[in-house]
Amino acid sequence: MQISNPTQLTSVEIAQTAVAEFLRAAAVSPELWRSHINGTGAVASLEAKLAAHYDKKFALCFSSATTALLAIALALDLKDTSFITTPLSYGATLAGFLLLNNRPQFINVLEPLTQTLCPDAVRQSISTHTKAIVAVDIFGNPSHTVALREIADEFGLFYIADAAQSFGGMRSGMPASCLADAIVVSLTVGKSLMAGEGGAVITDDELLYQKLIFLTQHPDRQRITLGFNFSNQFGINGRIHPLAATIADATFESSLAELQAHQENRLKIVTALNEIGLTVPMPFEAEGILPTFFSLVAQWQKKADPERLINALNEGGIDMKIAELPCSWISEQASFLAQYGHLWSEAGASSSNERVIPRQTEKTIFALQDLYR
Ligand SMILES: Cc1ncc(COP(=O)(O)O)c(C=O)c1O
Repeated sequence: MQISNPTQLTSVEIAQTAVAEFLRAAAVSPELWRSHINGTGAVASLEAKLAAHYDKKFALCFSSATTALLAIALALDLKDTSFITTPLSYGATLAGFLLLNNRPQFINVLEPLTQTLCPDAVRQSISTHTKAIVAVDIFGNPSHTVALREIADEFGLFYIADAAQSFGGMRSGMPASCLADAIVVSLTVGKSLMAGEGGAVITDDELLYQKLIFLTQHPDRQRITLGFNFSNQFGINGRIHPLAATIADATFESSLAELQAHQENRLKIVTALNEIGLTVPMPFEAEGILPTFFSLVAQWQKKADPERLINALNEGGIDMKIAELPCSWISEQASFLAQYGHLWSEAGASSSNERVIPRQTEKTIFALQDLYR
């Protein structure tokens, strides 16, 4: 898929102009500041673009992906239940679910190529308490959305996708995680589409969309969108900032074009890594997977040999350095255990699968970063 950026301006330049234009226009028409209150202007435009990208009926902007995930748990009434998820994630994926006393069932078996949930292991771990699957496209690697959709349908589970790192990624010819009941993207710094802060939920589920508005958006938007003559003032303020929406809306196309250049660059590095042969082969193209390469992660084939790898990359004109993984095994993090260990120990016991990625192997996964970063 070729993404066009007709103006050839960078996203930074486009954002500068869009913000200046917003402030100029809002000085004359102050109601522009209410676009996020009413769900109009840049907010409506951004939501339409996100829905179209995933070929879904609805998209709703949020102040962050973390808030969006909490809102989904509230809207789906996921409280005191169990949910299946990956232990290799960023804590914010789980924060809202844990706040609502939901018990994570960590699946320790991950797909070797993507480090995302292994569908067979998910299937084996479903218990009568399981209410949802929370998949995470970690490192920007799209999870197996087709298989996860099938499992969710078979067992009557909600399938929620944390696509915070994978906006612009593809798998099986479809946008990353597009078959989830609710797809969550993040618009924070470093993400494919960067608004400063922000997030969004994309869904085909009209009831979920309506509940999300009722629980997180301004009463004016509740009335306008839902057509109610009453409103809920007791929700959480999950609204996006109007300037954040303005930036994300204006840079939507250029950000995807810039992401595409990044993906092409990273795929060349993956090819080089596969040829060098010190790391486990990554046949992304053969498997029909296009990550966003939020992080480029590789795994040592045998013994770690960073010096030889970096030298071999340098010889091919690639300047990279080895960096720590940007996330670590959730169930081993002290801050998780201190706050939420009680939820996990109960549910963890019900998870039947053994960890097939031994601790030793986990340690052999590493990230590659640009030298000058
Ligand atoms: C996988 C993942 N989930 C959730 C989040 C939270 O996103 P936000 O910062 O928009 O709340 C992030 C952000 O870094 C993330 O990488």
